[in-house]
Amino acid sequence: MRFSNDIFVYGAGGARRDIFVYGAGGARRDIFVYGAGGAGREFANAFEHSITWQVRGFIDDTKQQGEIINGIPVMGGRGYLLFEKCAVAMCIVENPQVKRELIREIKIHCPDVSFPVVLNEESSISRHIEWGEGCIVSLPYNFISVNLQVGDFVWINVANIIGHDVRIGEYSTLYSGINVGGHVRIGSECVIGSGAIIKPGVVIGDRVIVGAGAVVVKDVDAGAVVMGNPAREKGESHG
Ligand SMILES: CC(C)(COP(=O)(O)OP(=O)(O)OC[C@H]1O[C@@H](n2cnc3c(N)ncnc32)[C@H](O)[C@@H]1OP(=O)(O)O)[C@@H](O)C(=O)NCCC(=O)NCCS
Repeated sequence: MRFSNDIFVYGAGGARRDIFVYGAGGARRDIFVYGAGGAGREFANAFEHSITWQVRGFIDDTKQQGEIINGIPVMGGRGYLLFEKCAVAMCIVENPQVKRELIREIKIHCPDVSFPVVLNEESSISRHIEWGEGCIVSLPYNFISVNLQVGDFVWINVANIIGHDVRIGEYSTLYSGINVGGHVRIGSECVIGSGAIIKPGVVIGDRVIVGAGAVVVKDVDAGAVVMGNPAREKGESHG
């Protein structure tokens, strides 16, 4: 999938100026949101006026089929996907291990389900980024810089600043208001809490949890839970 983030400067002088219409690609593509919890409902809300995606329904194993949530129907639990050829946005975010297992099951039993990269159109996202399968930038006001490598099923929420050359491992979640410095490496299955600051170049191991508001100034070992300023280890993530 390609996204055009070209910038055209108003007032470049000269005669007539070219104009380009963003999103001329025709009809919106249908997408189903897996998980009608807070993350899923916010995602659906944010994409209500998307030019690319049309949210058709929630998939949720804990809700009643036919229930209407914020104007969007619950289609059923994961069984619904058995017979569908459709695109799904995975909005199960709090526990990366649970998300990984769920996706593994869906891939085995529902071969016609696809997991596209879905990028919020009100975020500023470089087009020079390698996205893995099923990555989601859910909400507005993210600034995501150049030359990132992002693993499969990474979920980025709202108002994060992510610097150049950052790597994010698969199934990791970044919540909100996080500032990730250039060249930072975040491992797989990490959860980065709201408002965290990660100093440029820091390496964070797999399955790390970074607490809300933490200021991470040095490398973090796999499986650690870190919090505070400067961030210190206070336990293990049990991942
Ligand atoms: C770090 C975190 C994972 C720890 O969770 P937990 O293990 O359940 O921790 P507890 O709430 O039992 O607190 C344990 C101790 O850590 C402290 N603590 C918890 N979170 C902290 C944080 N973010 N920064 C500093 N200290 C923190 C508590 O005050 C408590 O201290 P005490 O033992 O001296 O009383 C969690 O608090 C957190 O920050 N998660 C991120 C949540 C988030 O950003 N969600 C976004 C939703 S949109």
